[in-house]
Amino acid sequence: MTKQRKGIILAGGSGTRLWPITMGASKQLLPVYDKPMIYYPLSVLMLSGIREIAIITTPEDQAQFQRLMGDGSQWGLAFTWIIQARPEGLAQAYLLAGDFLAGAPSLMVLGDNIFFGHGLPEMLARASAQETGGTVFGYRVADPERYGVVDFDADGRVRSIIEKPEIPPSNYAVTGLYCLDGTAPAKAAQITPSVRGELEITALLEIYLAQGTLTVETMGRGYAWLDTGTHDSMLDAGNFVRTLQERQGLQIGSPDEIAFHQGWISPDTLRARARLFGKSTYGRYLHALVG
Ligand code: G1P
Repeated sequence: MTKQRKGIILAGGSGTRLWPITMGASKQLLPVYDKPMIYYPLSVLMLSGIREIAIITTPEDQAQFQRLMGDGSQWGLAFTWIIQARPEGLAQAYLLAGDFLAGAPSLMVLGDNIFFGHGLPEMLARASAQETGGTVFGYRVADPERYGVVDFDADGRVRSIIEKPEIPPSNYAVTGLYCLDGTAPAKAAQITPSVRGELEITALLEIYLAQGTLTVETMGRGYAWLDTGTHDSMLDAGNFVRTLQERQGLQIGSPDEIAFHQGWISPDTLRARARLFGKSTYGRYLHALVG
């Protein structure tokens, strides 16, 4: 029997690019409009049907994340809390989560990545159905040099993935969502730190690429992939969420709503959650969902 895919949220890092804001609080706990940032990537894992999730944080920030999110049972989820002592790269997450995964395939999302778009659950289901190898998602951006970038050959096949290249070979950034098979921890153990001292996610993806088992699926222009790496992009993400929520009257990134729609929590639990949030807009929204 194939093992159930598990989720990982990587919410470590010192967030120095956002100092002084992140000197006192973890970046992934900062607000994106009306919710903590980590709610949005958590929602992506939930939309893909994943309920067992490891959350990786710095030692200093773990307690605050736990205060916010508990053990996950309020959403019908089970959280495992893991510490990343030093920011030694994204691929290190697979080493830290090795015991938690216990050979299972995984979907890892970075705690500061926000995805929005019609058909996202279907796209995730397609990637998850692939039992061996991995899938990552390419997204066209105007400033690829800030990201891992896909290098395509003349036939559109992926030649390599390059971390923050000075001269980007394409406009396609690799988003912070990695759907990998159960061999990811063993592969991560093979890589050595880059010049900046990190186990780079691109190095891990290169191993899959060399084996011919990496799929790069491009997310079309109908999707929004927002990151929060700079003050401007964080404000843009907040404005994006506000604009859509106001127009549609629907929440983006509500774990409570998703848990309810997935059938993981009962109407009574949702009612209790709505009461907990009281008169906040979020509380009123949840209340309206169950009546
Ligand atoms: C990381 C990855 C990069 C990826 C990006 C997505 O960059 O190293 O490959 O494109 O996340 O958000 P970082 O945000 O750590 O600079």
